Amino acid sequence: MEKHVYVSDIATHEGEEVLLRGWLYGKRSSGKLHFLQVRDGTGIIQCIVSKKDVPEAVFAAAAGVPQEAAVEVRGKVAKDPRSPLGFELHVNDFRVVQGEQGYPIQPKEHGVGFLQEQRHLWLRSARQRAILAVRHTIIKAIRDYFDERGYTLVDSPILTPAACEGTSTLFEVPYFDLGKAYLTQSGQLYGEAAAMAVGKAYVFGPTFRAEKSKTRRHLTEFWMVEPEVAWMDLEGAMDLAEDFLVEIVRRVLQKHERELGSVLERDVAALQNVQKPFPRITYTEAIESIQKTGHAVRWGDDLGGDEETILCKQFDRPVMVHRYPAEMKAFYFKKDPKDPKVALGVDVLAPEGYGEIIGGGQREDDYATLKAAIEQHKLPAEAFSWYLDLRKFGSVPHSGFGLGVERTVSWICGLHHVRETIPFPRMMERLTP
Ligand code: 4AD
Ligand code: MG
Repeated sequence: MEKHVYVSDIATHEGEEVLLRGWLYGKRSSGKLHFLQVRDGTGIIQCIVSKKDVPEAVFAAAAGVPQEAAVEVRGKVAKDPRSPLGFELHVNDFRVVQGEQGYPIQPKEHGVGFLQEQRHLWLRSARQRAILAVRHTIIKAIRDYFDERGYTLVDSPILTPAACEGTSTLFEVPYFDLGKAYLTQSGQLYGEAAAMAVGKAYVFGPTFRAEKSKTRRHLTEFWMVEPEVAWMDLEGAMDLAEDFLVEIVRRVLQKHERELGSVLERDVAALQNVQKPFPRITYTEAIESIQKTGHAVRWGDDLGGDEETILCKQFDRPVMVHRYPAEMKAFYFKKDPKDPKVALGVDVLAPEGYGEIIGGGQREDDYATLKAAIEQHKLPAEAFSWYLDLRKFGSVPHSGFGLGVERTVSWICGLHHVRETIPFPRMMERLTP
């Protein structure tokens, strides 16, 4: 194909005749002029088709071009200080490559249910495009953060023999003569094995939970990054989580301040607050502070969405809540030697009501204690024998955490619901498109 120019590179072609390829985003006409907004995935440019400059057939084609039709435009790049891009195209040739009338998404308010059914097309809107770009930057920042600090990426399996985060949210898959497999809820247990091999490991992949909750924070398929570090205690995991989040937010601000502000209408100042140190409070302190607002909650209760919202609104940056009642935590948590009622776990809650984005802590490293915990949680001993081996052959204190990518995107972009944070969301009531 003939080489074409991308909108993102247009500044380097000022005054030149170029070929652009893209889709018709919007159109406005005034008698002798058509103003075509053409998007190519890298940006949107205004293309001006003037009756006096083009053959009649070209002018007519521009008049009838359907929304989201694929188009080729040739023209001269000219400076335009009024446009956000700074440039426009004076068209001398224009061709519709393909496109029918009747694009389902119109420039008006559509209900979210309708837009979700049209997700394959909805992704083309400026807002969804901005979210995809921020998500990409977050994922890149996550990888760079660990890669630049000596971590090794270790992929954990998606088909697993047992639960990591409790048995209630497992997706079952038939597995040949071996019976059942389960889609992974977390790669943590494998991350622990990896940490003993490479010292600092991170697992990054899709995770699955048969969540029956229809909330703005739950998906059935989501991406999680899980660092796991040998010779690290709970304090170390909190230091890591704090430094990691500051860096991710900094990277997104550096790259996308414009999209966040003008496309997503995000309060950017709130993100600029995300600096060290983050407040650290115990679960017990958290309960007391929620009770002071008049909200009924007791020590031992889980912090649900409502409680998290109340709590995180009290701070202008993420808050770390540590030492939860051991009873409500997964089997692998180490108990606090100073107070065995609580587990050495931490949740990081994002501000502005977003709630938990990170969960993690210090792992039980003693063989007998862990074996007893597996029995107490009625987990199948055979499936965990390899995990117990890690406590037999060179067991060391170790910690890690999991950051949910979608909740992070939701918070950083300022979105109400996680359904817009992943290209094709999977929820209890949605499996298409
Ligand atoms: O707190 P969770 O359940 O922790 C774990 O899975 C640990 N094994 C992680 C570890 O220590 N390596 O989940 C971690 C994070 C949550 O804080 C949240 O951000 C996200 O995963 N998450 C979900 N995101 C979207 N939809 C869901 N249903 C989620 N469940 C958890
Ligand atoms: Mg959690």
